[in-house]
Amino acid sequence: MAKTTGTAAELIPEEPTLERLRFAAADCKACDLWARATQTVFGEGDEKASVMLVGEQPGDAEDIEGKPFVGPAGRILDRALQEAGIDRRQAYVTNAVKHFNWSETRGKKRIHKKPNARQMAACKPWLEAEIQLLRPTVIVLLGATAAQQLLGPGFSIMKNRGKLIQNSLAQHVIATVHPSSILRAPDDESRQSAMAAFIADLGKVTPLLKVKKSPVAAAR
Ligand code: URA
Ligand code: SF4
Repeated sequence: MAKTTGTAAELIPEEPTLERLRFAAADCKACDLWARATQTVFGEGDEKASVMLVGEQPGDAEDIEGKPFVGPAGRILDRALQEAGIDRRQAYVTNAVKHFNWSETRGKKRIHKKPNARQMAACKPWLEAEIQLLRPTVIVLLGATAAQQLLGPGFSIMKNRGKLIQNSLAQHVIATVHPSSILRAPDDESRQSAMAAFIADLGKVTPLLKVKKSPVAAAR
């Protein structure tokens, strides 16, 4: 296996902008995932966004297109955001890990594999740099990988979903399920109720976004 440095920390530019971060991340080889993926899929969206949505890692479609949440899980996310009254164009969307990880194929599709602890730790500086730069009012953690990346390995989505979490990362942090869990629901009825619960969790974010960042807080 190719030799890796084990952390992206040394690649973070001294005076980061979103463009500089994206440019630096494109060449990241801090963990082994770069070798089997097409490209780094960096976060995307409005630099002034007050909400940041964090997923797990790019999937098959994202790996090819180079943008986060553009495949089937992205379509679920888009629908849920719309129903919750959040405009995706005003959000910044990113992932806990920036390269696609896959181990087997089903037909033409490569099946995603959860990143391991080493890969997550290597990639974390990119997400931390995005948070520091954007200083979103609200961070929404989509699924266990995103939540554990920022809140530690003991964090349970099932116990804490939809609750506002006290944390220094942002004024408000909230965790919910990953949209792909809705795609995996065994039947229509459970899919509908999983979607309704996901929309209800996201709906808790909507009123938090109506309060504008104060000029003092924004200049910090
Ligand atoms: N799943 C994720 O967690 N992120 C994406 O960008 C796509 C699918
Ligand atoms: Fe770097 Fe993250 Fe890609 Fe690993 S997954 S090579 S740490 S960008």
